[in-house]
Amino acid sequence: MFSATCVAPVNMALVKYWGKRNEELILPINDSVSMTLDANEMCAKTTITASESFKQNRMWLNGEVVTFEENARLMRCLAGVQRLALANGAHKFSLSWKLHIASYNNFPTAAGLASSAAGYACLVYTLARLYELPLNEELTTVARQGSGSACRSLYGGFVHWRRGSSADGSDSIAVPLAPASHWPNMHMLILVVNDARKKTGSTRGMQLGVSTSSLIQHRAKEVVPRRVKELMAAIESRDFQAFAEITIKESNQLHAICLDTYPPCVYMNDVSHAIVNFVHDYNETVGSLQAAYTFDAGPNACIYVLAENVPRLLAAIQLAFPNDAQQSVEYLMGIPVPPV
Ligand code: DP6
Repeated sequence: MFSATCVAPVNMALVKYWGKRNEELILPINDSVSMTLDANEMCAKTTITASESFKQNRMWLNGEVVTFEENARLMRCLAGVQRLALANGAHKFSLSWKLHIASYNNFPTAAGLASSAAGYACLVYTLARLYELPLNEELTTVARQGSGSACRSLYGGFVHWRRGSSADGSDSIAVPLAPASHWPNMHMLILVVNDARKKTGSTRGMQLGVSTSSLIQHRAKEVVPRRVKELMAAIESRDFQAFAEITIKESNQLHAICLDTYPPCVYMNDVSHAIVNFVHDYNETVGSLQAAYTFDAGPNACIYVLAENVPRLLAAIQLAFPNDAQQSVEYLMGIPVPPV
């Protein structure tokens, strides 16, 4: 019997991935850039055991059974790692041994935050450890086939997912841009907005976007390539003003595309919009961009802020969104935040 346990953190996109050119291989229509969060804060944890005596592959997610063999994405990840293991030849046991996989998220599912990215990254990385494979570009192409954004969670710090151009997806890879230590005072706050409504998932939302939005191709061809370059330069020079402006515009463009989709995908709610207004007002009051928001396919806000500005921003957030108000932010998680 052989076993491996790993954790993989959540990542949050700065330049957003939205739209596929190949649904099966999960090939995006544009590059994306993200920041991976601290592994201890919000992550998936997976244990995989391989045994000659197991009769079938089995999987549990947060203690619930997952129908493994019927899940095409899971199967594709397993097949992808096993293909690499076969080529590498270093594994200590037969690839025919069945697996038992147990995975947990340590963040509240209500947060709806990139759980598939951390989950698939963790699955693929743990499989790689089990079969004694290195973390490299090829492994990111496997994680990408679980969930596109998962390929970015294999690395810490700032990560670039290149869309690639080959039909087989071999050059659609994630590459690390800079470790977290490059910008150590970069912090993120997550404002979890209380919202029970069911939304169109990312996969469906981007499918609809590609087939109905007349803005999405302009974004992919004209806007994103320029923004990726500008954001990479901002990260390299630790220029928070440029970083904040690109991040905010990216979030707004993603949601503009979602509204341009037919029927429209509405992910942000009134509280999300109140947070947007709050951040713009706050930046105007302090006289520079000290906070930047980004929203994925949901109402929750991620706010980027430098460590030295966290206490003032948090105090302003608590004043603007008191817990008992109608427009409340359910709770706040800092990554990492000093106590106030
Ligand atoms: C808005 O990676 O969840 O978070 O590839 O279909 O699994 P699939 O989609 P997914 O989409 C993430 C979309 C996003 C933006 C981003 O993370 O870049």
